[in-house]
Amino acid sequence: MDPGDGIALTFCVIFILILIVTWLSRKSLMNFIVAVLSRQQERELEQHNEDIEIGTVTEEEKTKRVAGVFSSVAESYDKMNDLMSFGWHRVWKDQFVSGLSAGLVPTTPSSDLRLLDIAGGTGDIAFRLLRHAIDIHNHPSVHLTISDINPSMLAVGRSRSESLPISHQAALSFLVADATQLPASIPDNSVDLYTVAFGIRNFTDIPAALREAHRVLRPGGVFACLEFSAVQGNPILDALYKRWSFSAIPLIGQVVAGDRDSYQYLVESIERFPKQEEFRDMIVDAGFAVSGDGYENLTNGIAAIHKGIKPVV
Ligand SMILES: C[S@@+](CC[C@H](N)C(=O)[O-])C[C@H]1O[C@@H](n2cnc3c(N)ncnc32)[C@H](O)[C@@H]1O
Repeated sequence: MDPGDGIALTFCVIFILILIVTWLSRKSLMNFIVAVLSRQQERELEQHNEDIEIGTVTEEEKTKRVAGVFSSVAESYDKMNDLMSFGWHRVWKDQFVSGLSAGLVPTTPSSDLRLLDIAGGTGDIAFRLLRHAIDIHNHPSVHLTISDINPSMLAVGRSRSESLPISHQAALSFLVADATQLPASIPDNSVDLYTVAFGIRNFTDIPAALREAHRVLRPGGVFACLEFSAVQGNPILDALYKRWSFSAIPLIGQVVAGDRDSYQYLVESIERFPKQEEFRDMIVDAGFAVSGDGYENLTNGIAAIHKGIKPVV
C-alpha cells in the first residue's frame, strides 16, 4: 500500500466513524454538534468573506487566479478528486452521463451528434460520453469537443485520451476557450448536448456562460450541469460535510499535492456557488426550459444535476 492509499484509508475510516457515532447519538446531542460545527463554519466563512472584500478582486484577476489554481493542480487533479470525495465523484459522474443517454436518439436522421464538454479538464465527462454514444448507443457519427480555459488541464486530458479506443480518439477534439466567450468556431445553434461538470462555479460571469450555452445549442438541445451544491434536509450531514471540506480538504491538498491554497480556493468556491433553486432560476433566465424542479440532488445535495432545454420556436 503506498502512502497516498494510507492517508485515504485513514480519512475514510475517520469519516465513517463520525457518521456512525452521529447516527447513534440522541437528537439533543446531534443538535449540539450541529450548532458547534455550524458556528465554527460561520466564523470561517465570515473571515473568508472579509478577506475577499478587502482584496476586491477584479474579474480579470479572478480569471487569472482560477487559471493559476488549475495549472497548479492539473497533475494531481485526478488523484486528489478520489481522495477528497472518497471516489464518489466517479459515481456522480457516471450517474450524470448515464442520465443524458448521449446518442440514444438520433438528433435528425443521419445527422452528426455534436457534443461540447465545457470546462472539460482532464476528460472524465467526455470519455464517459464517448462510451455511451459510440459503444452503448452505437451512434454512427459522434463529434465531441473538450473545451477548457486552461491548457495544462487539457494537456492532461489529451494525454489520457491516448489510451482510448481509436474510434473514440477520432471523435475527439480539444479547444482552449473561455466558457463565457466561446469562439466563432462553435457557431450558433450547432451543438446537441452541452455538458459542464464541476466547472461553472469557477466562471467569473456565470450568466454570460449560460447565455453562450444557449447560443451554441440547437433548438431542442440540452444544457446539463453537474456541480457541487447545498446539502438539503440533513443538518448533520451538512455540518459534517462543511467541516470535512474546510478542514480536511486543504490539509490533504497540502500533504498530497503540496498546495494548500488552491484546495482552500476550491472549497470556498463551492460555498459561494448559488443554491439549487437560485441556479435553476439563472438557467431559466438564460432562456432554457426546465422540467419539474429543474434539478436532481445527488447524495442529499452535496452535488446536483441541473438540466435545461433550448426551446424549439
Ligand atoms: C474542477 S475542474 C473540472 C474538470 C472536469 N469537468 C471534471 O469534472 O473532472 C474545473 C475546470 O474548469 C475550468 N475552468 C475554469 N474557468 C473556466 C472558464 N471561464 N472557461 C472554461 N473553463 C474554465 C478549469 O480550468 C478546470 O479545468
